[in-house]
Amino acid sequence: MHIQKNISLKKLNTFGMNVSARYFTEVDSLESVSELTSFLARNKYSTLILGGGSNILFTADIDGLVIKNDIKGIEKVDEDDDYYYIKAGAGENWHQFVMYCVANQYAGVENLALIPGNVGASPMQNIGAYGVEIKDVFHSLEAYHLSDAVKVGFSNSDCAFGYRESVFKNKYKDQFIITSVTYKLKKKPDLNVSYGSIQQELTAMGIKDVSPEAIANAVIRIRRSKLPDPAVIGNAGSFFKNPEVSSAYFIQLKSQFPELVGYNLENGNVKVAAGWLIEKCGWKGYRKGDAGCHEKQALVLVNYGDARGEDVYTLSENILISVKEKFGIDLVREVNIVPGIR
Ligand code: FAD
Ligand code: EPU
Repeated sequence: MHIQKNISLKKLNTFGMNVSARYFTEVDSLESVSELTSFLARNKYSTLILGGGSNILFTADIDGLVIKNDIKGIEKVDEDDDYYYIKAGAGENWHQFVMYCVANQYAGVENLALIPGNVGASPMQNIGAYGVEIKDVFHSLEAYHLSDAVKVGFSNSDCAFGYRESVFKNKYKDQFIITSVTYKLKKKPDLNVSYGSIQQELTAMGIKDVSPEAIANAVIRIRRSKLPDPAVIGNAGSFFKNPEVSSAYFIQLKSQFPELVGYNLENGNVKVAAGWLIEKCGWKGYRKGDAGCHEKQALVLVNYGDARGEDVYTLSENILISVKEKFGIDLVREVNIVPGIR
């Protein structure tokens, strides 16, 4: 195990924040994870696991050990009449994994094309887009407890998935390193084009025979048209979650703001589009220094170059305050703020 000192994380986070890690190491096999966990059982370090760095806002240098997870490998571990069980190493790139599944006709992840980051983080916040969430295709995962070196398996129900939530974001925060995830993918595709713009995009592409590949391509086109490419403008996708309000409160707000956007949930509440709320507070396209609110998607906060994490955090704080004042709704951040000093 090789521990490096004072390593820049600028290229390892999609916000492009120029911070450094006091200690840094990479793991690329189960042997290296086992060596790492035994080391951590003997030596006290505060730790941060890093995948693709696409859901993190660094607000300061990391005074601990950053562990970059690079475990690779994809294999079919089982199959039955209806499903293939595909196991992927935590360090596999998520989008490449999706395209591998599409090419091999393992169906179910096509709506999740082009989400940045790695396989290992996919269960962390139950990634979701265009009508599908990881929980719909998740079978199990393997992880190691960081300080007692025990290997643990988690089933779908063990992960307690919710909207951008899992047990790893709450009860077990920062306690485990996920080494692999096994997905349960359909042999016969169950195509999901329910999310409005997918059907529209397929029509625009002139596609009549819908397939997982066509859906992945449609999703890629929609995402490219809406979301800033982190290679060009630093960002971490949606900065806040879409908030949930009671239907009574939604009706009350709708009478004041007739164009308010919301979706009915099975529990009777309404999920409100945070991007709409933020836009109506006047933040869309706002920029102070190099920190800003994206001009096409108000839910995405951006770093135009040299913003500090603190600048983006302050902007997010001001957005929270104004949405609360105007609509009486508390936004919750989706992005992980590191160090978690708030
Ligand atoms: P990181 O940012 O590296 O880590 C995220 C969290 O997971 C951290 O707390 C980290 O410690 C932990 N972690 C990472 N790997 C492991 C591991 N192996 N074991 C234990 N803990 C780990 N998200 C969506 O859900 N839907 C979207 O549509 C979406 N669109 C996006 C678009 C853009 C342009 C960007 C930049 C981001 C978007 N995201 C989206 C957010 C992000 O892509 C996902 O959250 C992704 O899963 C993060 O993966 P990562 O490997 O980059 O994780
Ligand atoms: N909207 C506005 N103004 C804006 C942005 C959005 O009015 O500036 C309105 C849109 O007009 C639309 C509604 O808000 O009516 C929803 O917008 P969009 O379809 O772009 O989706 P979103 O709710 O903003 C969510 C996820 C995304 C995911 C997309 C597609 C969250 C927090 N975000 O965004 O996930 O890709 O749906 O499914 O749930 C992420 O988590 O990082 C992420 C990008």
